[in-house]
Amino acid sequence: MRDMDKFPAPVATPQAAETELNQQLLGWYDRNARTMPWRVSPADRARGLRPDPYRVWLSEVMLQQTTVAAVTEYFQRFTRRWPSVLDLAAAQDAEVMAEWAGLGYYARARNLLKCARVVAQELEGTFPDSYDALLKLPGIGPYTAAAVASIAFDRAETVLDGNVERVMARLHDIHDPLPAVKPVLKEHAGVLTPQLRPGDYAQAVMDLGATICTPKNPACGICPWRSPCQARIAGTAPELPKKTPKQPKPTRLGLAYLARRADGAWLLERRPDKGLLGGMLGWPGSEWNAAPDPRPPFEANWQDLGGEVRHTFTHFHLILQVKLAELPSGYNLSPGQELLTRHAFRPQDLPTVMRKAFDLWAGSEFNPGPNG
Ligand code: ADE
Repeated sequence: MRDMDKFPAPVATPQAAETELNQQLLGWYDRNARTMPWRVSPADRARGLRPDPYRVWLSEVMLQQTTVAAVTEYFQRFTRRWPSVLDLAAAQDAEVMAEWAGLGYYARARNLLKCARVVAQELEGTFPDSYDALLKLPGIGPYTAAAVASIAFDRAETVLDGNVERVMARLHDIHDPLPAVKPVLKEHAGVLTPQLRPGDYAQAVMDLGATICTPKNPACGICPWRSPCQARIAGTAPELPKKTPKQPKPTRLGLAYLARRADGAWLLERRPDKGLLGGMLGWPGSEWNAAPDPRPPFEANWQDLGGEVRHTFTHFHLILQVKLAELPSGYNLSPGQELLTRHAFRPQDLPTVMRKAFDLWAGSEFNPGPNG
């Protein structure tokens, strides 16, 4: 028997192909990783440093449906005010909701607090280090569990966000539409997830989607996966991933009532925990539907502020008319209502739609100015 028969020449097995893809991507990430306040650079990770799981978890919850640019400032404010999960668990609900104001999807903030309190009270302040254990915590779904397990604990778990979906659809030139094709994309992403450096790999594939394999005008010429990318070869990258058209959003109408006492205090309401903008402060108002019933918090000569507030939620557009009246000095608060003095009231603590109603007043002829 010849020696070469005992040692068959290596063939390009699928595993070898995947290892090569991983190496190409990780090499690119080593040179191009974005700097983020919650991230440990690939050079530091190579020296054995790992990020704080609290910061990874907080950033990943904030990054759901929200851009890195929008999250960065919130992340820095949160971690300055609550440097550890024990600090966050001890915070008042209203303080956390106020810090979250403007980021949207407020259920995330309510679940964030629930999760922090479970970690503080039941797990001695330590995040679990496995996908399955993370998945049991409030507000942690498959994406966040995989992201925290891989980034914070270097577990070989597969993250699938919108960026990774786009990268996989293009790499394999998959034309079936989202969301139905998601499990197929997850399978492809899973095959590529490496045992070595899974934390860097998870961040690398997301960075690739965010900076090179972008929805419009992908920069295929400088992509580390330009050779194996089937959509680049077919010329279909810019049209992928395909998406099943969404139902058009309906438009709802509503009324918001801004009641201001002569000394500048404002009447607000804490919205119920469940439902849209749950747990947030807002103006008293009507239901939001096709034809809102006026439901002022008290009888008065309500003036129209003129103009209107437009805001888009996940499932509908909203047009709000905004009314103004003076709050009687002896007004009795109803359950859920709060009276905030002009010093205690901070417009930035309001969710965006309520902030827009305030801004309409602030820019109106009814605003008496700083001394009024
Ligand atoms: N998007 C969401 N999480 C991310 C992360 N850790 N790195 C890059 N982009 C992300």
